[in-house]
Amino acid sequence: MCPPSTWHTFLTHLPKCEHHVHLEGCLTPTLIFHLATKNNIQLPSPTKNPAYASIATLTARYGHFTSLDDFLSFYFIGMTVLKHASDFEELAYAYFQRAHEDGVHHAEVFFDPQVHMERGVQYEEIVSGYVAGCRRAEKEWGISTRLIMCFLKHLSVESAGRLYEIALEAGHLYTTTADSNNKSEEEKKEGVIHGLGCSSTEVGPPKDMFRDIYASASARGINLTAHAGEEGDSSYIATALEIGAQRIDHGIRLGEDEELMRRVAREGILLTVCPVSNVQLKCVSSVAEVPIRKFLDAGVRFSINSDDPAYFGAYVLECYCQVQEAFGLSVEEWRVIAENGVRGSWIGEERKRELLERIDAHVKEYKVLLEG
Ligand code: HPA
Ligand code: ZN
Repeated sequence: MCPPSTWHTFLTHLPKCEHHVHLEGCLTPTLIFHLATKNNIQLPSPTKNPAYASIATLTARYGHFTSLDDFLSFYFIGMTVLKHASDFEELAYAYFQRAHEDGVHHAEVFFDPQVHMERGVQYEEIVSGYVAGCRRAEKEWGISTRLIMCFLKHLSVESAGRLYEIALEAGHLYTTTADSNNKSEEEKKEGVIHGLGCSSTEVGPPKDMFRDIYASASARGINLTAHAGEEGDSSYIATALEIGAQRIDHGIRLGEDEELMRRVAREGILLTVCPVSNVQLKCVSSVAEVPIRKFLDAGVRFSINSDDPAYFGAYVLECYCQVQEAFGLSVEEWRVIAENGVRGSWIGEERKRELLERIDAHVKEYKVLLEG
């Protein structure tokens, strides 16, 4: 689904930041079957789960998710085929390649070590693979990248705590206070993981289950985000902010609480909205129901993201196109969205300036063509 061609070209080349994409959500059915064979991993038998009969049946099943948890049941099976650092590297590299083609200049990507580690994959194997994928993409396409490590809400707090300690001990967690003069050389070491997040099942686990970990991370100056307000109501967003999240992943239920929405707008908190994901997981019945217009009018900052593109059938450009189809935004409104994505990114001022200049030049070039 695409708007007329000049709009499509405008959206393709609009310099984008993506802040909400799970690397494990970039595993296509083709790659799942390929890696399962290569790594000798047993996928569910088709007699137990007919979706795993072939690439075609799995792809077809992905078109009929009934809820977040229904999707997650496939997502956590899919990722079991990843075993070696090279698998993680290839997966990340493939995402960045596609993102680059879609006009992404800066990408902040989630990864979920806990499930991999529970089945015996070493933390180092995962992180070194993903870091290598990031470095290759940076070198090849000049894209800037950030890794965000997610804690999973359907697993125990203790499991998340163990992962947090491992990442801390490895010196992997980037802190925003890293260049303070009071820090020792060891403390100044720049981490390869630029933030922490949490995801998986929303309604059920305690809203504040990672309170202690987030408090510890906040005190260390580690960037924090959290999935909230996807299936859960606006109180999940309020709790995520209360425990220290600086951004909200999804956040589409924010509009239910006018006061909270005003606060989010006032404080410039970024929502990483995923419109196609919301449709695929039946959080809304169409992209037109995602509160894009409401957020724009209220001055709420948000970016547009793909979430799990291999499962939802839409990489980020397609998400932009579907938003344009549904809302018919103006060039200046796209400028606001693109600029807010830069402002909400976990990058330095110089990179922000560079990206803002690219957006400005692009918008100026297309404004006349599209709006006369
Ligand atoms: N929500 C929660 N957890 C997830 C998602 C999501 O959209 N994608 C991958 N893990
Ligand atoms: Zn997500």
